[in-house]
Amino acid sequence: MRRRGGDDKPPVKITRDKFKRALRVFKYVLPYRWAFIGGMVCLGLGSLIFLGIMKVPGEIFNVVSGESQYGLGLGQLMGILFGLLALQSGLSFLRVQLFAIVSEKSIALLRQELFAKLVTLGIPFFEQRRVGEITSRLTNDVTQVQGVFSITLAEFVRQVIVLVGGIGIIIFTMPRLALTMLATFPVVVVLAMVFGRHIRRLMKKRQDQLALTNVVVEESMQTIQTVKAYTNEKFEWKRYVTSLNEAVRISLKTAWMRGLFAAFIIFVMFGALFFIMWRAAIMVQSGAMLKGDLVDFVVFTGIIGGAIASLGNFYTELISAVGATDRVLEILDEESELELTADDKPRKAPRYHGKITYENVRFSYPTRKDVEVLKGINLEIEPGKKVALVGSSGAGKSTIVQLLLRFYQPDEGRILVDDRPIQDFDLSEYRSNLAIVPQEVLLFGGTIRDNIRYGKPDADEEEIIEAARLANAWDFIRSFPEGLDTVVGERGVKLSGGQRQRVAIARAILKDPAILLLDEATSSLDAESEKVVQDALNTLMEGRTSVIIAHRLATIREADCIYVIDNGQIVEQGTHEELSLLEKGIYNQLAKMQFENATT
Ligand SMILES: Nc1ncnc2c1ncn2[C@@H]1O[C@H](COP(=O)(O)OP(=O)(O)OP(=O)(O)O)[C@@H](O)[C@H]1O
Ligand SMILES: [Mg+2]
Repeated sequence: MRRRGGDDKPPVKITRDKFKRALRVFKYVLPYRWAFIGGMVCLGLGSLIFLGIMKVPGEIFNVVSGESQYGLGLGQLMGILFGLLALQSGLSFLRVQLFAIVSEKSIALLRQELFAKLVTLGIPFFEQRRVGEITSRLTNDVTQVQGVFSITLAEFVRQVIVLVGGIGIIIFTMPRLALTMLATFPVVVVLAMVFGRHIRRLMKKRQDQLALTNVVVEESMQTIQTVKAYTNEKFEWKRYVTSLNEAVRISLKTAWMRGLFAAFIIFVMFGALFFIMWRAAIMVQSGAMLKGDLVDFVVFTGIIGGAIASLGNFYTELISAVGATDRVLEILDEESELELTADDKPRKAPRYHGKITYENVRFSYPTRKDVEVLKGINLEIEPGKKVALVGSSGAGKSTIVQLLLRFYQPDEGRILVDDRPIQDFDLSEYRSNLAIVPQEVLLFGGTIRDNIRYGKPDADEEEIIEAARLANAWDFIRSFPEGLDTVVGERGVKLSGGQRQRVAIARAILKDPAILLLDEATSSLDAESEKVVQDALNTLMEGRTSVIIAHRLATIREADCIYVIDNGQIVEQGTHEELSLLEKGIYNQLAKMQFENATT
């Protein structure tokens, strides 16, 4: 599978490359190829039988006017007709079943792989895109691809068979007329191409605009509390309406073009058809053609005309499907951080000692390349030590931790764990040695038990309760009527910030990592709970390397080393006592301020 470079802003154009690329979706059909082939055979036979059936009325006419060349009676013809009809019904039934199997299963396969890709993509991917855009690919675009397999492709093949078969029959039985007819085709085809290009462009714009509209909905719903607190309902509504109006405008423009396209095709097509029929009528008049053949001719020109008209539609449909496929493949072609393996057994990862070294690490976020967030960070943390990062908001503390989690790559310098560059470790193994209690804890929809067990999927009940107890979360969990089975998250009980933080701590306790990262882990707690949780954390920190980010200096007094971060650099480092001696030091200033605040 080729990866194409320089594809950031693809022009809306179906190149052969792009089309070939789109054919890759057939990979997902491959496991169901026999059903697919069976469906196609049914389709092909059905289409041929359809042509046969359409041949019968002309023959009836010939029999009635005594010009038949086959010597069949009317009764026999009707018998053949019903036989063919029965056969075609059976084939249609089979075809629908087979194509349903193919399209449903292959699309499920595609969705599976797409989701597997999404969860294994690196953090930067998600920062460069909006959630709505991503979900739209998994839903809208994939649905469109499915449409191709369930309807478009089958219809396309059927119409092509009918077209080719119909033309074949006409050429075979009345070559002169057929030539006149075929002379009009290229005109129609060229016109279809010109129109198709315009429509394609508009369709894509419409798709994009609709996606944007959905993004507005999602963003407002996600931040609904803020929207309400600031009474910005009207603002959000207006934002939605503006986006919606734009979508309608583009849709109508597209519809206008499509209408024009349809009208044009009808006019050109039917103009040509009536012209040809007129020629045929003249031939019958002069005796150069049987009356029954004229009926055949009228029937088949109608069929051919219909086939061409719908092929014109399929063309545009195919194009937007190629576009959708392309957007889906774009995600599938992104580089994953890791592979999902089929076996469910959690691999036993080796335990690290937990030595952490930062060597002149420079970093700017991929979304804001021009702002350097870390400007040469040097750290050396011995195994089992507790270090603290302090500093003003936006200084880069969380960023340091995120680099350690390998969410991003440093631009310069390197990070080592146990004296080995962290990129050299297997990612799953590496991350299984780390646990983080983040600044903002989001819980998954599910029970509290599920949320705690997230740190160790095979943990038993006792371990979970023990972890909850150590995190000082057990008391509040027990106070809920359903205890650990209390459903939290979107549809369940809302936990307070401090409760969520304690669930996250329990999760980290259960994980039992070599390196523990606490990003403001006690920030949402009242002084009393903080003390209890702090005790829990102190137990948790024993025997492992801990990196603690804290604004409240009281919580880090005991740290083996405190690093003061300012504007992406380490400006001071040492123990609480050492740093307090620096009269003009930032740490000292901070400490004084907090102390004063505490006493007043
Ligand atoms: N995902 C991101 N993309 C782009 N810039 C970011 C991102 N996260 C943080 N930043 C920027 O990087 C800088 C450092 O942010 P960081 O979160 O590391 O600060 P912090 O020291 O943890 O602050 P706080 O104490 O408020 O949590 C800030 O200027 C911030 O705007
Ligand atoms: Mg932070």
